[in-house]
Amino acid sequence: MVFGMFSDGDIIGKSPALQEVLAAADKMATSHARVLVTGETGTGKELLARRLHAGSPRKSGPFIAINCAALPAPLLESELFGHVKGAFTAAHRTHEGLIAAAAGGTLFLDEIADMPAPLQAKLLRFIENGTFRKVGSTEEERADVRVIAATHGDLKSAAAAGAFRVDLYYRLSVLTLEMPPLRARKEDIPQLAEHFLRRYSVAEGKDFAEIAPEAAARLSAYPWPGNIRELQNALHKIVVLHAGVTLTAAMAESVLPQNARVVGENIITLGAASEASVRPLWQVQKDAIETAIRLCGGNIPRAAALLRVSPSTLYRRRGVGSTDSEDISIS
Ligand SMILES: Nc1ncnc2c1ncn2[C@@H]1O[C@H](COP(=O)(O)OP(=O)(O)O)[C@@H](O)[C@H]1O
Ligand SMILES: [Mg+2]
Repeated sequence: MVFGMFSDGDIIGKSPALQEVLAAADKMATSHARVLVTGETGTGKELLARRLHAGSPRKSGPFIAINCAALPAPLLESELFGHVKGAFTAAHRTHEGLIAAAAGGTLFLDEIADMPAPLQAKLLRFIENGTFRKVGSTEEERADVRVIAATHGDLKSAAAAGAFRVDLYYRLSVLTLEMPPLRARKEDIPQLAEHFLRRYSVAEGKDFAEIAPEAAARLSAYPWPGNIRELQNALHKIVVLHAGVTLTAAMAESVLPQNARVVGENIITLGAASEASVRPLWQVQKDAIETAIRLCGGNIPRAAALLRVSPSTLYRRRGVGSTDSEDISIS
């Protein structure tokens, strides 16, 4: 396989699922309208937000990203809006917030669903009027900022359930983009793997230059519940732990989970103590499916990923009883 030339920030992948999102994003980029990016963790939501910024008339302005789930409410508030000297004990000097820093550019609010309610109100006010106040200040300030928000959850349901402001949800989701999970664009896996192999080889001073076809097949068959971030980490691990020019199937195997395990619960008891304790296979499978679905909060695609089967297999197999003894083929 020949390596293409990609730099950091390029969004790699030729799959129709990805290309469709990129085409939609490129149409939205030139607009000032807010965009809500959804998708599982590690699917490239931040990368997509950067692309929206890079394709916009604000591209020479700043792109500022903040993770709303990473900071406690008071800290998040002063990070976003800034604070004045004396606003609280540790406020020794005036601090410009990230909204002010993003003026003329784009503010990316990651994990927006985790923004505390009082800050949601303050953000709504900024979005509606373009004005905000530093913590501890009565003075209104203005900043011209395009807001792009992202969430790995379902913000609409969160709003419907009262966990997120409905008015803010509608303000943020004027335009929406959904990043598909990696298992819905398996065609992209070999190319992504090559890219990360090359990048980590250079960084770690190794000689890896290609991926054996069986290794590419093995990587493509794994469901990657952690998406591209997980794939990236797996390739880094391979480069650190192994040496050579070719990434082999054995190397790929060495970093992939071996069995259809569900963390936190022993779904299949191996080494049963007596004949009487051996349970029918259909029942074991049914329990495994129900357990996985329950642990995933009813999310079938995610449960399917943990069980290493396709979501359609799971939809088909739910509620299977003893009359149906067909096995699930585990890839
Ligand atoms: N299509 C892609 N091509 C190359 N790298 C990607 C791609 N998608 C994601 N990445 C990389 O994977 C990691 C996770 O992406 P990120 O945008 O942070 O995901 P999310 O915000 O959805 O959790 C980042 O290091 C990012 O650069
Ligand atoms: Mg992210």
